[in-house]
Amino acid sequence: MTLSSRIQHPLLKQKIMSAESAALLIENGDHVGMSGFTGAGYPKLLPQALARRIELANQGDQKFSIGVWTGASTAPELDGALAKVGGINMRLPYQSDPTCRARINAGQMDYVDLHLSHVAQIVWFGFLGKLNVAVIEVAGVLPDGRLIPSSSVGNNKTWLDQADKVILEVNAHQSAALEGMHDIYYGTERPPHRKPIPMEHTGDRIGEPYLRVDLNKVVAVVETDLPDRNTEFNAPDQTSEKIASHILAFFEEEVKMGRMPPALLPLQSGVGNIANAVLAGLNRGSFENLTGFTEVLQDGMLAMIKSGKMTMASATALSLSPTANQEFLQNLDFYRDKIILRPQEISNHPELIRRLGVISMNGMLEADIYGNVNSTHVMGTRIMNGIGGSGDFARNAYVSMFMTPSTAKGGAISCIVPMVSHVDHTEHDVQIIVTEQGLADLRGVAPRHRAELIIQRCAHPDYRPALLDYVQRAQHNAQAGQGGMHTPHILDEALSWHSRYEREGQMLPKL
Ligand code: COA
Repeated sequence: MTLSSRIQHPLLKQKIMSAESAALLIENGDHVGMSGFTGAGYPKLLPQALARRIELANQGDQKFSIGVWTGASTAPELDGALAKVGGINMRLPYQSDPTCRARINAGQMDYVDLHLSHVAQIVWFGFLGKLNVAVIEVAGVLPDGRLIPSSSVGNNKTWLDQADKVILEVNAHQSAALEGMHDIYYGTERPPHRKPIPMEHTGDRIGEPYLRVDLNKVVAVVETDLPDRNTEFNAPDQTSEKIASHILAFFEEEVKMGRMPPALLPLQSGVGNIANAVLAGLNRGSFENLTGFTEVLQDGMLAMIKSGKMTMASATALSLSPTANQEFLQNLDFYRDKIILRPQEISNHPELIRRLGVISMNGMLEADIYGNVNSTHVMGTRIMNGIGGSGDFARNAYVSMFMTPSTAKGGAISCIVPMVSHVDHTEHDVQIIVTEQGLADLRGVAPRHRAELIIQRCAHPDYRPALLDYVQRAQHNAQAGQGGMHTPHILDEALSWHSRYEREGQMLPKL
């Protein structure tokens, strides 16, 4: 099949051009909405051509840079290439690229870290200004001009709708058989005209399989034949297996207590190796007929669908390792009616998460003894990735869990600290904390008792005495009139573990 057989609309065939020519259609200072979610479905040639153009322009006196809006993280060909040449002045709503991260943390690039369900609507509301260009990867164009979405949906519907100009990358590497797996909902309205979103089950289809575009806005079509970023996940190690076993035991108890049905409730699983390992644990466990209502479908969930443990999964992106991707492509007919890809405003929608009763499981960097969670900032100041969808899910979930190994950097960092150095999820949104040491169930537990539970169940034994000492002294001070007994703290000391790590490379205080 030639590439252009993917482009079946005559007008769009006439707009085929090189990535270099298409890159000339983007102006300095433009806001550019690009496709891409967790390394899936991002444009591959255009951003690299634009980066070359920017590099040349910036060798002279010009300062050429753009604002890059996406679904979530992309790949070296997009974030990496543009960040390397200083081509991004502002990035939103989520990234995980090392070059971007370094530039953001060096103060050379602005970053607006947003809840992923919020992005589309705040663009329609006009809060972010005008979207000038949309650059969207698609798997094909139908004769009537509708677009076959790629391996992620993200914010593509909104970018196509809101941008003045549209550039399409038609990627023949994406399987043509993806056609029909997407569910693009066009019923979202602005307040005060909003209606309930008509979904009651993970597998409900409420939209259409194609993206719409105003053909008059399409200024260029670029043909590509390149794979997504796909990287292998680490094999689950002992730590993540222990985390998974605590979560499984918790689920078993919840079912026994009648607080969850035997097939549990739709599972949301965050990004990263630990999340993937937890799903591997569930795949070995005894639960059947599970469903997923999640943001990213990683290897672990695909394996559960393959084994029959999971009957249906809804997501906005496929983020599969090369091995899992091959399995998916070779057996697409089997997976076709078990996976639905939706816009991220739907996959992460608070109304749906609450209605379906989603069980949310996300990674974190650190939690404090009262259950506040930091998912984004290393030592309180340096961005790691971003909040992603963790807040969309945590606040609205049936049960919200956060998980991490109890220590990082070979034990030099305790992931349970007196006070988190940045708060993404407040104690009000965090119900369960899990480390390889154990699981703390914080539901209905007041702060002082939360501290006992979190320290005893989740902290590493090397750090437990210091945490207990802190909390006891904080309570003693409060009783003596310095501070309150509701959430006792020693303010001068609360972040001293982090500053000690910055100074000495080690959090553990000398007792
Ligand atoms: N302080 C400083 N660094 C820490 C840390 C802490 N408390 N805890 C972990 N780290 C470091 C690790 O050392 C590791 O760095 P390295 O690779 O240089 O060694 C890195 O953070 C990742 O840690 P890891 O344990 O491998 O976790 P992960 O892959 O499960 O990722 C998050 C954890 C928090 C970074 C990740 O889950 C994330 O970005 N979450 C926010 C977005 C989100 O939740 N999205 C899903 C919503 S649907």
